[in-house]
Amino acid sequence: MTSSFFARTLPASRAAGTLLTVAAGVTAAVLFGPQILRSVLHATPHAPDMPLFMAQPAVIKIHMLAAVFGVGLGATILSLRKGNRMHRTLGWTWTLFMATTAASSLFIVGLNGDHWSLIHLLSGWTLIVLPFAVRAARKHDVMSHKRAMTSLFWGASIVAGAFTFLPGRLMWKLFFG
Ligand code: HEM
Repeated sequence: MTSSFFARTLPASRAAGTLLTVAAGVTAAVLFGPQILRSVLHATPHAPDMPLFMAQPAVIKIHMLAAVFGVGLGATILSLRKGNRMHRTLGWTWTLFMATTAASSLFIVGLNGDHWSLIHLLSGWTLIVLPFAVRAARKHDVMSHKRAMTSLFWGASIVAGAFTFLPGRLMWKLFFG
């Protein structure tokens, strides 16, 4: 597939990402709004609960570490100069973190019983867009590369990350439970 194919699919990918985020937000607000409000009002922020973290299965530990490093590294890359060797090295490392985050999440279930949940759509999407975004960079298609990578960073990393702090989920328990 060529990068022109990739460029053509990008507007659709942004619309799908926005739609997914809005749908997830509205669903969460309607289903869990009152419960979330009650939990937030009674939250007790504390240092990370390390025994709880250590008790998690390896796949969750890998997922969390890759995701958290991905957020930090992604923000660093966005704030630095682009196109030089440092950008390429950090970019490949970030790509690896994102691929690990998305791939490991395919082995995590719980929000929807024993089945994949809506968030797994984001995992699949991340695994599809990442190679196209890298390919665009290698073909010097800067606009496509920039759009794909920044939408992955904000859409997947930051928005998915924020949702993990919903009351009841593990990140909430680790820091506020
Ligand atoms: C800072 C970013 C992130 C953090 C801290 C994080 C953390 C977690 C944790 C702790 C879980 C275990 C289940 C639970 O929450 O109780 C989880 C599940 C999951 N995460 Fe992430 N994650 C992040 C980013 C991502 C990203 C970028 C994706 C997708 C590209 C993703 C996809 C998933 C999926 C699909 C699940 C399983 C949900 C289910 O049970 O159905 N996460 N995440």
